[in-house]
Amino acid sequence: MAMYAERVLPRIINVACGGKDLQALRRRACSGLAGEVIEIGFGSGHNIPFYPAAVAQVTAIEPAGLGWELAGKRLRASTVPVKWSGLDGQDLPFPDGSFDAALSTWTLCTIPDVAAALDEVRRVLKPGGTLHFVEHGLAPDESVRRWQRRVEPVNKMVFGGCHITRPVVDLLTLAGFTITEVDAFYQRGAPKFGGAAVLGIAKTA
Ligand SMILES: C[S@@+](CC[C@H](N)C(=O)[O-])C[C@H]1O[C@@H](n2cnc3c(N)ncnc32)[C@H](O)[C@@H]1O
Repeated sequence: MAMYAERVLPRIINVACGGKDLQALRRRACSGLAGEVIEIGFGSGHNIPFYPAAVAQVTAIEPAGLGWELAGKRLRASTVPVKWSGLDGQDLPFPDGSFDAALSTWTLCTIPDVAAALDEVRRVLKPGGTLHFVEHGLAPDESVRRWQRRVEPVNKMVFGGCHITRPVVDLLTLAGFTITEVDAFYQRGAPKFGGAAVLGIAKTA
């Protein structure tokens, strides 16, 4: 299982998350990022081409070393400095108020203790700092939710613990963020049970 998680899963994620359909969503999620940015669940760096020039540096948090290797070409082409500085979004090795903004794309589904991770993100953001997100989670429609509940156990097994029933906006609100922008939709090209998405910005007090 460790071999699957370390050597196989990051390659599957690299392909699954590298789709052209996702690029427009990545561009929207990254829009407006500036200053010191922390990215939770960096994966293989598919957001790199969309970091705005106003970003001074991205601090990447990612448990999978292979993800960093697979990001090589994108990292070399990046105009924004990126450093890999942590393994676990649930326990960030930075003082309070270290970052101007945070970025999370299709990651809150996978972090085991998502509430702990959101507490950590809020803690390391400066007051008024923003979390830019695009995430999949609990669908708005009950007919889709029924499928999500059926598929979730298999989905978690195949995709490294990826939940498809997390109510992302509620989790952000519970963690003390104020949602300032949100768009909810079904992702084009994805089955509805896996593609019920929210894209937006959440702010710390
Ligand atoms: C579906 S992938 C998304 C990757 C990337 N954000 C993207 O948009 O391509 C979920 C990512 O969350 C990472 N992850 C899992 N547990 C984590 C944790 N505790 N802290 C930070 N990242 C984690 C996985 O290794 C994986 O790279």
